[in-house]
Amino acid sequence: MSKAKFITFEGVDGAGKSTHLEWFANALRQRGIDLLVTREPGGTPLGEQLREILLNQSMHIETEAMLMFAARREHVEQVIRPALQRGTWVISDRFSDASFAYQGGGRGVSLTKLEQLEQWVHGDLQPDLTLLFDIPIEVARQRLSNNVSLDRFEQEKGEFFERVRQAYLARAAKSPQRISVIRAEKTMHEVQQELANIVSSL
Ligand code: TYD
Repeated sequence: MSKAKFITFEGVDGAGKSTHLEWFANALRQRGIDLLVTREPGGTPLGEQLREILLNQSMHIETEAMLMFAARREHVEQVIRPALQRGTWVISDRFSDASFAYQGGGRGVSLTKLEQLEQWVHGDLQPDLTLLFDIPIEVARQRLSNNVSLDRFEQEKGEFFERVRQAYLARAAKSPQRISVIRAEKTMHEVQQELANIVSSL
């Protein structure tokens, strides 16, 4: 039996990643793959409490970074690693690339500090595959404008998201083997076609 895979979905708010994640997870399940879908920040009872704080309460940028990684530590130990060990695939709606993009690119937390946290929290575990849904910020903002309530991150200005987007792309350029960039402004059907090819390749 081949090894269970750890796959993460990333992108700026409004890129459509959550919708595509659902489609992708169903496509894998239809092929008989046992999988677990989870999210960050969150994924554990403590992680979900931290999510509530992170999305609603303002704080120092480094506190934000550390809480993201604290939630991740629980998530890795309690959910991700045990699932992979028992042969269950894991798909996570965001993981550490989001911290490099949002806290690093968006907020300006030092990349060296983020790398240290990453090393500490999951030095020996990286996603096998990351799908980065990339979209021009104006399009993402337009999509978000339909939401009734926006969280602390979604309320940020366009420049913040531009920095987040660029940080994601820089990360993808550094790890092209792991991170696949998907042009998310294409139609739903076109994106699904691309995802179907990825499912087949897995
Ligand atoms: P998101 O997946 O967008 O949740 P929803 O689709 O329900 O709005 O994630 C919530 C926010 O958390 C998102 O704006 C990005 C932010 N975030 C970070 O800033 N750093 C991180 O490390 C993670 C995992 C998320």
